Amino acid sequence: MTESISNSEDAQRLNAVINTATDGIIIINHRGIMESVNSAAAILFGYEPEEMIRQNISLLTPSPHREKHDSYIQNYLSTGIKKIIGIGREVDGQRKDGSLFPLRLSISEVKLENRIIFTGILHDLSKEKAQEEKIKKLNQELEERVEERTQELGKVVNKLLFTNKQLQQEIKDRKAAEKGLRFKEKETRSALLKERELSDMKSRFVTMASHEFRTPLSSILTSAELLELHLAAGRHEKCPRNIERIKNSVNHLTSVLNEFLSLSKLEMNNVKAEPSLFVFDEFAQQLIENLKPILKQGQSIQFEGIGKSEEVYLDKTFLNHTLMNLISNAIKYSKENQFISFTSKIDKSTLIIIIKDQGIGIPEQDQKHLFGRFFRAHNVENIPGTGLGLNIVKKYVDLLGGTISFFSKLGKGATFTIQIPLNKTD
Ligand SMILES: Nc1ncnc2c1ncn2[C@@H]1O[C@H](COP(=O)(O)OP(=O)(O)OP(=O)(O)O)[C@@H](O)[C@H]1O
Ligand SMILES: [Mg+2]
Repeated sequence: MTESISNSEDAQRLNAVINTATDGIIIINHRGIMESVNSAAAILFGYEPEEMIRQNISLLTPSPHREKHDSYIQNYLSTGIKKIIGIGREVDGQRKDGSLFPLRLSISEVKLENRIIFTGILHDLSKEKAQEEKIKKLNQELEERVEERTQELGKVVNKLLFTNKQLQQEIKDRKAAEKGLRFKEKETRSALLKERELSDMKSRFVTMASHEFRTPLSSILTSAELLELHLAAGRHEKCPRNIERIKNSVNHLTSVLNEFLSLSKLEMNNVKAEPSLFVFDEFAQQLIENLKPILKQGQSIQFEGIGKSEEVYLDKTFLNHTLMNLISNAIKYSKENQFISFTSKIDKSTLIIIIKDQGIGIPEQDQKHLFGRFFRAHNVENIPGTGLGLNIVKKYVDLLGGTISFFSKLGKGATFTIQIPLNKTD
């Protein structure tokens, strides 16, 4: 096809292509002198094409390239190392008015018969760059907005967190208030219960008193009348017996009252342990001594101690009340000539006390109620008592942090065992 076209037509067509190209095309020689410039290139740089022809290409390049341009070409021609030729890069161009603009420059080397020329194609990047700038700016704005929103969101989140914290505190406060109310309610209820129990106890006391007090009171009255008669008749030898009877009855009444009083105190939670260090065996001997007057004919207490000078750290009063009750029961529910054994030992820092008698024993069906208030077994109708002693004992043993148990068979005596921990020894 090319063959049919003449040389001048070829040149014309090439000129037309170059001149109508939208990108600038500049041809320079090996000295950097512009030999040919298309109109797009002239428009790009704001020159008339004639103004550019025969000028050095450095006219279109800003400093510092402008000054070095010649050396660029010389370097290439002497070393053959291509830094831009055939590669293309983005550079700045300088218009006639001195303003700069971005352009993509691709240079190709054309070897003619006896010399080398370079063709540069210049594509204006101003629009792209402006677009890029715009996008960059938009991006930045977007980032700023996101940052702003994030900060706003952070503030909202902080506010929410604060409100949440406040709410949590409120919930906590309410719960505490509720707890307080519940506690108050519980207190009121238990106070009411205590009051009811107290009034129950009072009425039971009246029943018990009328029953318990009648016998010793009538015994006192009879003895006093007899005493009067004997004195009037001068039968002085009969007086001590009646005086003794009066004393016994008064003692009994006193002990009944004492029991009732200590129970009331216990019920009102008015008792607190006051432990002290004391020699247990000495304390036990004194207790036995105090109980001797109520021993029946031929009765005795056989004591086995924990050691002559062995000390314990306990509330003496609680222990005294407990053992008094247990031993006086053993005496009361045993017959004449029967002995009571009072054994004590320490096993792994627990004080173990066993009170054993050979008395009337406890009917099996009554055993489960034994520590109940005012409870008395069916086989003790003829023996005076209030049914309070063991109830008090149980409470004292609890206060001592210990336990109480018993074993008994009807007619075969009873054995009561208490165990008290001694680990709180000073
Ligand atoms: N060693 C014992 N042998 C047989 N029965 C016993 C013995 N100890 C307690 N009991 C039974 O347990 C009941 C309750 O005893 P508790 O000591 O509480 O009351 P009480 O002896 O009847 O009266 P008190 O209040 O004067 O002590 C007694 O009435 C008796 O039936
Ligand atoms: Mg008793």
